[in-house]
Amino acid sequence: MSNFAERASEITQRALIGIAMSLASEVGIFQVLANADSPLTSYQVAMVGGLKERYVRELLGCLSTAKLVQVSKAEDEELQYSLEEGAKEVLDGRLAAFLGFPSLLASTFHSVKDCFYKDGPMSVRYTDQVQDILDGISRSSAPGIAQIFLEQISNLKTKLEEGIDVIEFGSGKGRLCATLAQQFPNSRFVASEVVPDLVQANKDRWEHIPNLTFSLDDLCRVPEVPDKNYDWVFCCDVIHDLPDPVAALQGIKRMLRQPNGLLTFVDIATSGSPLVDRGNMNVSTFYALGTFLCIPESYQRSDSLALGPCSGRQMIASLAQRAGFQVEVIKIEDLTALFICQLPKQS
Ligand SMILES: C[S@@+](CC[C@H](N)C(=O)[O-])C[C@H]1O[C@@H](n2cnc3c(N)ncnc32)[C@H](O)[C@@H]1O
Repeated sequence: MSNFAERASEITQRALIGIAMSLASEVGIFQVLANADSPLTSYQVAMVGGLKERYVRELLGCLSTAKLVQVSKAEDEELQYSLEEGAKEVLDGRLAAFLGFPSLLASTFHSVKDCFYKDGPMSVRYTDQVQDILDGISRSSAPGIAQIFLEQISNLKTKLEEGIDVIEFGSGKGRLCATLAQQFPNSRFVASEVVPDLVQANKDRWEHIPNLTFSLDDLCRVPEVPDKNYDWVFCCDVIHDLPDPVAALQGIKRMLRQPNGLLTFVDIATSGSPLVDRGNMNVSTFYALGTFLCIPESYQRSDSLALGPCSGRQMIASLAQRAGFQVEVIKIEDLTALFICQLPKQS
């Protein structure tokens, strides 16, 4: 078989199994197996999960032959299924949300396909399903990101303890902002979103946190003279989704309180070149997510820069410099960086 044929069929197989795995996660099959004290037959999985046995058995066939689920024979010769040691803890973490991506990409496939054609639509905005998956990821990552902010930004913890004004743009479902607001009751936090329904949902969800308020803002349309100034602005996985990141960064700069106002953001930080990242399947996954999610989201305007998640750490840093910031880039994970953006020192 040619190299291409081998690679294409291997990846197609994995994609098909990935969608099946997403389905198993969504209908609760992994959770039923994780909660069980001993292996279960397909009938037992179906009964506990409130599902149809024949569908469950077929899917368990897929998962067990792919070695995602263990399979053995009971004394009565019936097949029984279980998860390997340690799988339950993994499923309680970030992976559970990540398993939602194949189903998400499948559901958005035709809308994104239409966008490829010259006479097709420009954009497919994030759905509730996207925000739910991001919130699931944030459930396990928010405390770690909050910790990174506090460790990497000098004096931030002291300032937050004393009481400062903070805003998060593109807060999604607001978990990171809520985490920090609860940790620092003397500071005043705003969770901002461009999607009106999200702002309302966040109000309903986090109204019990007294030092957290909510606002509706389009980062690409910050007024020349902003209504309010902040000591610290942050965002997470937002800059690459914006149609005009430089205008947004300039808008944030106008909002920062002189002279020590600070912007920090977390973003994907690849090399920026498929040539350099060739063979790196993690980067390839980000390009896939870019194709189905980030590019369609950032085409809010036809003149969008449409960076995508893989424009590269240097490109992102240079946009922040172009907006007038002094920028420091700190690698926090293999493909993620913290961008610390300071106002230029006034002479
Ligand atoms: C990838 S999501 C990240 C959400 C959240 N920060 C997280 O880490 O889960 C990008 C967010 O940016 C928001 N966004 C997109 N365009 C925006 C704009 N023009 N102004 C402000 N926020 C925007 C989206 O609504 C979305 O919630």
